[in-house]
Amino acid sequence: MKPKYYITTPIYYVNDQPHIGHAYTTIACDVLARWKRLDGFDVMFLTGTDEHGQKVEKAAADAGIPPQEFTDRVSVHFRDMTAAMGISNDDFIRTTEPRHVASCQELWRRLQANGAIYLGGYEGWYAVRDEAFYDEGELTTRPDGTRVAPTGAPVEWVVEPSYFFRLSAWQDKLLEFYESHPDFIAPATRRNEVLGFVKGGLKDLSISRTSFKWGIKVPGDDAHVMYVWLDALTNYITAAGFPDADAENWRFWPADLHMVGKDILRFHAVFWPAFLMAAGLAPPTRVFAHGWWLIEGEKMSKSLGNVVKPADLVEKYGLDPVRYFLLREVPFGNDGDFSRRALISRMNVELANDLGNLAQRSLSLLARNCEGRLPPRGPATEEDTAILAAAEALPGLLRGHLDRQAFGDALEEVWKVIRAGNFYIDQQAPWALRKTDTVRMAAVLRVLADVLRGVATVLQPFMPGSMGRMLDQLGVPDDARELAALASPLPDGTVLPTPQGVFPRFVEEAG
Ligand code: MSP
Repeated sequence: MKPKYYITTPIYYVNDQPHIGHAYTTIACDVLARWKRLDGFDVMFLTGTDEHGQKVEKAAADAGIPPQEFTDRVSVHFRDMTAAMGISNDDFIRTTEPRHVASCQELWRRLQANGAIYLGGYEGWYAVRDEAFYDEGELTTRPDGTRVAPTGAPVEWVVEPSYFFRLSAWQDKLLEFYESHPDFIAPATRRNEVLGFVKGGLKDLSISRTSFKWGIKVPGDDAHVMYVWLDALTNYITAAGFPDADAENWRFWPADLHMVGKDILRFHAVFWPAFLMAAGLAPPTRVFAHGWWLIEGEKMSKSLGNVVKPADLVEKYGLDPVRYFLLREVPFGNDGDFSRRALISRMNVELANDLGNLAQRSLSLLARNCEGRLPPRGPATEEDTAILAAAEALPGLLRGHLDRQAFGDALEEVWKVIRAGNFYIDQQAPWALRKTDTVRMAAVLRVLADVLRGVATVLQPFMPGSMGRMLDQLGVPDDARELAALASPLPDGTVLPTPQGVFPRFVEEAG
């Protein structure tokens, strides 16, 4: 039986249109999902939309339409983004679906049955933009007198009856859990932040609201809707079939990785494992918090007019270069600055020059001098052995890096081999061998074809379209594109289709 792998994106609030920050999280997850499939795992990859709560209710009111209609409309934009980014998700969950309502209400009942919930009253600060409660001590006052959360979100004073989750009872158990699961939170700096927060003391958490209606009703108490974060986090078990323990997808729980942005780590690394353990369910295996993108040095915002829409980028630069750039430009976990200049430079230097030229030179020489067929390997020289060994090491190296979500390190390993391939082709000069030693020329071209096959195979998760085309040109059949297939060489004489450039240079239009 194949090992399982369950990976999730956060579910996106439908108060906003998709932008590059959303696409980033989703693409990172897509690369991991595709990588695991390539590596023989049975994968479940989930994304979706977070549709309840005061923030969405307000956005619907501002748009002058009922919340359900509003969420139906905006959720489609996220579905479209998923398609436009070439995302291979297995499911798309919406929190307004009946399966999710049933799942949340059952989780509530279990928490209640286990004594984890009590009725009380909430009096304190709430930020609708973050859908989060804040303590007085966390707030600052703006010159105009408004009180704001550390995130900059304005807060309002809320007084209402509320159910509470006994989070305070989980402080020691969470600390023990982090201790015994050192890889649960990554990167390490974020792990330390969470540890600090939990060590600082946990207060019981308000998990229901009565001052608005747009949410999942608390079982047995219609006046309350569930706190949107309890509702939202539960999506991860809903999609796995909760509460049906016989559901086909329940075998995927616990999730292997929840990918989140740094702003929502606390919800995933503190509240979520506490809810799950209190309900008698297993916590996820790992939560990774990535950084935020600025746009040419500025925070992305509607008022600045600098919101980068994923579909516009894809139209201008192509999907694979955008996917590549986002995961290559900044070490995953750090904040990054999005600039078109940097994107174009990586397209032209790394994709067109380094990888594109290596493929183009090798494939056109094979087409012209080997009748478009894959020649046999010859007796290996030291140089042949070295470059082939470097290509063969890629799957193992990438496995290590990608299990740590180190996308940049993984890509750098591949580029080391690509650069070595360009050095090898210059040094061996097969175009010159054509006149002096055609047998050696053919052997050199075969080494290059094998190296390119290794490179294109491991790069498929990052750039599925262009690497698919490169594997077509290398004569690799569809059923020989998994990592395990690299152990079997392609048969000598395999017919190679006419080569076509995979990565053209990007030339900026004048003006
Ligand atoms: N609905 C909640 C998540 C619930 S998960 C159970 C939410 N939604 S969100 O739409 O506001 O944000 C979704 C994700 O997008 C977050 O992980 C957030 O970090 C990410 N990003 C939003 N803007 C971003 C950037 N500018 N850069 C990178 N990621 C950013 O939070």
